Amino acid sequence: MMKKLIGPFSEIVTLSSLALNGAIDDSQLQVIRNGGVIVEDGVIRETGDFDALYNANPGLEIEEVEGEQVLLPGFIDCHTHICFAGSRAKDYSLRIQGKTYLEIAKSGGGIWDSVTQTRAAEESILVSLLEQRVQRHLADGITTIEIKSGYGLDIANELKMLRAIKTVSLTTKADLVPTCLAAHLLPKDFNGSQTEYLNHIVTDLLPLVKAENLAGRVDIFIEESAFDRTAAVPYLLAAKAMGFEITVHADQFTTSGLEVAIEVGAVSADHLEAGTAYEAALLKGSETVAVVLPGASLGLGMQYAPARKLLDAGACLAIASDWNPGSAPMGDLLMQAAVMSAAEKLSTAEVFAGLTFRAAKALNIKDRGRLAEGMMADMQAYPCHDYREILYHQGKIKPGIVWKNGTRI
Ligand code: NIG
Ligand code: FE
Repeated sequence: MMKKLIGPFSEIVTLSSLALNGAIDDSQLQVIRNGGVIVEDGVIRETGDFDALYNANPGLEIEEVEGEQVLLPGFIDCHTHICFAGSRAKDYSLRIQGKTYLEIAKSGGGIWDSVTQTRAAEESILVSLLEQRVQRHLADGITTIEIKSGYGLDIANELKMLRAIKTVSLTTKADLVPTCLAAHLLPKDFNGSQTEYLNHIVTDLLPLVKAENLAGRVDIFIEESAFDRTAAVPYLLAAKAMGFEITVHADQFTTSGLEVAIEVGAVSADHLEAGTAYEAALLKGSETVAVVLPGASLGLGMQYAPARKLLDAGACLAIASDWNPGSAPMGDLLMQAAVMSAAEKLSTAEVFAGLTFRAAKALNIKDRGRLAEGMMADMQAYPCHDYREILYHQGKIKPGIVWKNGTRI
């Protein structure tokens, strides 16, 4: 039994009672000035005025916080590919010389290059590379991280990636959420059609993923260069029937993926850069979370997903980093969200929601993402006096203190 009062904070932005769907105005934010948080056994019991909580709980242990600090829930990055070996700096240099993502993929670069480099790496190397990236994210206040396989693309190497993620999850303080993305690309060395490859994954990989409890989620890249909807739908329905939650890389360059995601009842549809008003309307009243990935737009030099339109259409909008060696090598989630918010006209409340409880919904997790009673005490404090400073500095102010389950990292 560990109970303590943490504070005082200049401001606590609780994100309590904000809606899961649609636009949010900053005036709806609950901001507690001179605030405190009572944490017991890693869970939030109460938030409120620091002095009032102090006086109402005589003898309670105090964990004092120095200086001006603004407290937010820990961020949740609900879409990453940070289990990989090697680099694609060569691809990037070609892209900024004007070659397109698809041209580079056709000439031997792209996802397949990362598959080659990741297949060549021992599991222990993947573990240490992944560990470093997870620690960097955790220091940036990201306390829950989704991580996809998808650079193995055969049974042994997909298992190697998922086992590396599991190994790191046992030692890091961050919570890792693994996803099987064996359907990232039709591997060049597979002798058969898209459907034959996906059937092979259903028959020969997913049962092992289940048996070893390596992932509870299945993802697919629906795109002209990857899988088409005709192959995707039966694959996703088969995975769903095995008990996997479904998420989809949808509408990055061309549309159709979001329709598939909604048809199969996916928890999220991610990317959406190519989406129009038609796609935005599909999300109205849908349980599928729209996940936008500004880091991929920045890495590819292409337009952002229409985040403003998606919110105005009533979508639940999460923002994730897509951190990967190809399209989104930077991996700085807060910077990306801040820069996108300036272009897309997202309110601070919408950005914070997209990085916290709305991202939790994309992962179907209900116990985090707001600073409220019963939620996990995953929290981060920024050294400033006003929450608006955080996006204003576009990612250059980092949290000075991060807590996971109520314990300082
Ligand atoms: O989300 N779009 C497909 N997959 C990744 C890119 C992966 C890569 O280029 O290595 C993405 O952007
Ligand atoms: Fe991705």
